[in-house]
This record gives sequence, C-alpha cells and structure tokens, in this order.
Amino acid sequence: MKTLFISILGVSLIMFLTGCDQGPKSARGFSLPEGSVVNGEIKFVQLKCNDCHSVVGREEIREDVDPIMTVPLGGMTTRIVTYGELVTSIINPSHKISQRYLATPVEEEGQSKMRNYNELMTVQELIDIVAFLSEQYELQPYPKTYYTVY
Ligand code: HEC
Repeated sequence: MKTLFISILGVSLIMFLTGCDQGPKSARGFSLPEGSVVNGEIKFVQLKCNDCHSVVGREEIREDVDPIMTVPLGGMTTRIVTYGELVTSIINPSHKISQRYLATPVEEEGQSKMRNYNELMTVQELIDIVAFLSEQYELQPYPKTYYTVY
C-alpha cells in the first residue's frame, strides 16, 4: 500500500515537473534584462496604470487621479510573484485573471477589464514597470500547520 502511494506520488511529481513546461510554447528560457525601478514608477503613472491600480504602501501614486477601479498591486503574498507572471499580467491580462480582489469585478466574459497596452508600451517600459512592480511585493512565509502525533 505504501509503495503504491509512493509510486503514485512519484508519477504525479514527474507529470507536474515536466507537464506544462515543455513544447515550443513553453516559457522556458524566458528572461528579461535588469530594469530601472525608478523609471518603472514614472512609466506606471505616465501610462495611467494608476487609473485602475493602487500600490500597497504607496498612496501618493494615486494622488490627483480619478480612479476607474481599484485593483491593488504589491504587498504581502504567500507565493512568489515572478517576472514571468508580472509580464504576462501586463501583456496578456486575460491569460490568468487575478483572483485576489473579489470586491472588484475584474473580468467580463472571461476577458480582463485591463486596458491593452501592447501597441502603446515599449519593451523598455515593460521591463522597467515589471522591475518597479516586483519591488512592491513582499513574500510572506506560508503559515505551516503542525500536526501532533496521535
Ligand atoms: C482599465 C483598468 C486597468 C488599467 C488602466 C490597468 N489595469 Fe492592470 N488590471 C486591471 C484589472 C481589472 C486586473 C485584474 C484582472 C486581471 O488579472 O487581468 C488587472 C491586473 C493587473 C495585474 C495582475 C495583478 C495580480 O495580482 O495578478 C498586473 C501586474 C497589472 N494589472 C499591471 C498593470 C500595469 C503595469 C498597468 C499599466 C501599464 C495596468 N495594469 C493598467 C485593470 C487595469
């Protein structure tokens, strides 16, 4: 019984590790050059990301803005926010709709309500904005559950 369990676990682990990471459309090998946090913040405001986004702990970023909606970015998270995820959220927002803010209706018929920036933003602006945003997240250790031995 125990060996069966271990083999199922092993097979699932292999499937998990190799599964979605293969194939020509995989994100393997994706890497961005170092961006500028300072320029990223400037671009975040210039491109009016703050129309819809607040940044946790950075209230001044929304001064003089008449917000359309409030989807907070940054702050504590229990999981690592990767560059890849941030880039995807910006250039392909409907790929995975954020589930963090149930108070705000963030999608319509499976499409993100986020503006499409792909014709407006330079690659350098994207790199800098992602550098700025990744600075805004803090990783919170996931609270472990301790089970006592019976
Ligand atoms: C018209 C409103 C609007 C504007 C403008 C906007 N966004 Fe968004 N954004 C959203 C909404 C709604 C979501 C949540 C739904 C989703 O995940 O696509 C979102 C999600 C995100 C996420 C993912 C958040 C998460 O926790 O997964 C990032 C990162 C992001 N936006 C960055 C930006 C950046 C950078 C800009 C400016 C270049 C921008 N957004 C402009 C509406 C907007």
